[in-house]
Amino acid sequence: MASLIGKVCQDLDCHLVLDVGSGLGYLDQVLHHSFNLKCIGLDSSLKYTMAAKDRIKNGKIRSMFLISQIFYSFWVKDSCQNSMHHRTLEVSHSEKCLKYIKSLLNEEHNWKCSCNCNKKTAGSAAMVGLHSCGNLTQDMMKLFCQLDELVALVCVGCCYNKINLLDFPMSKTAQGALKDTCIKFPEWRPCISGLRVAAHGTRSHSVNALTDSRTSKCVFYRALMEYYIKKENITWQQPKRHIRKADLLDFETYCRSMLSSHPLSNDETTLKNLNNLFDEKLHLFSRVKILLVLQLLLQPLWEGFITVDRILYFREKSMSANVLALWDDAKSSRNLALCVYKR
Ligand SMILES: C[S@@+](CC[C@H](N)C(=O)[O-])C[C@H]1O[C@@H](n2cnc3c(N)ncnc32)[C@H](O)[C@@H]1O
Repeated sequence: MASLIGKVCQDLDCHLVLDVGSGLGYLDQVLHHSFNLKCIGLDSSLKYTMAAKDRIKNGKIRSMFLISQIFYSFWVKDSCQNSMHHRTLEVSHSEKCLKYIKSLLNEEHNWKCSCNCNKKTAGSAAMVGLHSCGNLTQDMMKLFCQLDELVALVCVGCCYNKINLLDFPMSKTAQGALKDTCIKFPEWRPCISGLRVAAHGTRSHSVNALTDSRTSKCVFYRALMEYYIKKENITWQQPKRHIRKADLLDFETYCRSMLSSHPLSNDETTLKNLNNLFDEKLHLFSRVKILLVLQLLLQPLWEGFITVDRILYFREKSMSANVLALWDDAKSSRNLALCVYKR
């Protein structure tokens, strides 16, 4: 991701990067040290912004030197903290946000830095986002078009299921195609469950999970639990932690574990009802694998729909837009970088 941004900035003579959803600022540090870029990171979480500032202030970077064709490396204190500024801001497509970003890009930052970044003459800026979740990518796309200060956008999305359906699809071409489709198939619409399928692991990433019985168990147990709590009007959310092997020993163990911090955790009637539900629905278990295969088959279609829509949105505005796979999706599924140049 950093190499791609470095290359784009070199091509377009950008000296500044606006990193939206910057998290702990890892990308900014690499961009600065490897490509002499100045960075402004924006994140909605104050905790992350503070942590990014602290990391850079107290952080160290690896310095390397070459003697007789051997690389030596050692850690030195990062002395470039004035070249990476992190601010807390919930980025959205609003007039207020637009104004704030504009002023931020034109603000005189304290860029005092001993390294080569100061030798660059002030050029234009690029907007970037690594794993910009949900609607953040859609908002970035709209902001990018309205900010003349920005000449390029490089963005890898994730959590497509959090996209606001009012913002999807974005391109006129996809909106038109959708209208035609709805005439033929009135019941068909883009829906959150489709966007969730797009956000699943790709085939290369998840195909091995199909042969692991724990995957089917996990889906089946969760489905039974969700069915029960909905039917009984109970408020419950699956704990955020990973499901452990021990949780999947049998359905009762799963239920006890998932309800462990719930008021119903010691309610034997609930556990008995859940066990009865399991016996009643067990004949459906073999269908889980069919659903998982279907999900794997549909995943690239939904992700393709989102990706092509994003490309078309920019091309309709006469910008150059492409998508590149940045790394092996078997390792990490969300590897598609949208790369846009204003022409
Ligand atoms: C998946 S993390 C990626 C963090 C970072 N880019 C990285 O790759 O390490 C997404 C980040 O976006 C931030 N975020 C989500 N919605 C946002 C919004 N509307 N405005 C600004 N930041 C947002 C989250 O707080 C989180 O730090």
